[in-house]
Amino acid sequence: TGTAQPFTKWLHIHSTLQPCITILTCESMGGAVPSPRTLPQGCYVAEEAGEETFRCSQAGLSAVPVGIPNDTRKLYLDANRLASVPAGAFQHLPVLEELDLSHNALAHLSRAAFQGLAGTLRHLDLSANQLASVPVEAFMGLQIQVNLSANPWHCDCALQEVLRRVRLAPGSGTGIVCGAGARPDLVGQEFLPLAGGEELCGRGRGGAQRSTDVALLVTMGGWLVLVVAYLIHYMWQNRDEARRSLKRVPVMP
Ligand SMILES: *[C@@H]1O[C@H](CO)[C@@H](O)[C@H](O)[C@H]1NC(C)=O
Ligand SMILES: *[C@@H]1O[C@H](CO)[C@@H](O)[C@H](O)[C@H]1NC(C)=O
Repeated sequence: TGTAQPFTKWLHIHSTLQPCITILTCESMGGAVPSPRTLPQGCYVAEEAGEETFRCSQAGLSAVPVGIPNDTRKLYLDANRLASVPAGAFQHLPVLEELDLSHNALAHLSRAAFQGLAGTLRHLDLSANQLASVPVEAFMGLQIQVNLSANPWHCDCALQEVLRRVRLAPGSGTGIVCGAGARPDLVGQEFLPLAGGEELCGRGRGGAQRSTDVALLVTMGGWLVLVVAYLIHYMWQNRDEARRSLKRVPVMP
């Protein structure tokens, strides 16, 4: 690793000076990258504490860049102009552990934003964005610690559900404050003390429960109809069989 450090520095300097830098150059220097690709401007690869790290902080990005190496464990996309995270945005990064999306303009996360990261992602920073709510589905199956501070939260059922599924980064809970779109009596209030006392998902949950019950009833009804139909069919066939054997009896000597 004696040569790796100066090399990443070199890469950094050049990537900030030039619009693009091809990894083709790295290959000639012994880099193990299979195909020539370009890194987005202002981005660089580094090894930090033995972990493959991709840094694109303050790079003026308005979308998740392409060409992030698939062995990246830490990804810094903070202080850019990202407005949304589309479905599967990071699914080509099978070993991603840490993702920093803080200080962007995120107002929307896809329900499948973190698809493919269930086994690996540990830390997610969504702080200092424009998030009023996030779909709870986006966090299903993830075992993550997340920073949700400094967003204009609606402080609704969705947020309460999310907080039941994630762990908050230490000390970041007080930064979850209700924004202008929230219920008038909640605006400007810290969410955690509220969420502890009030069940914001009361009616919504009952609704979900009821629709599950209906679905179960319909399924069971369907099965019952099938079983009865089969029984009728079976009895009908048996009756025919019985009639036929009755007719055959007189023929016997
Ligand atoms: C990255 O992609 C290469 C080439 O497709 C593949 O051989 C390698 O196993 C991948 N690495 C990871 C960590 O998935
Ligand atoms: C959470 O985000 C806020 C705002 O970006 C930051 O000040 C704070 O240090 C973060 N906390 C942790 C534990 O990362």
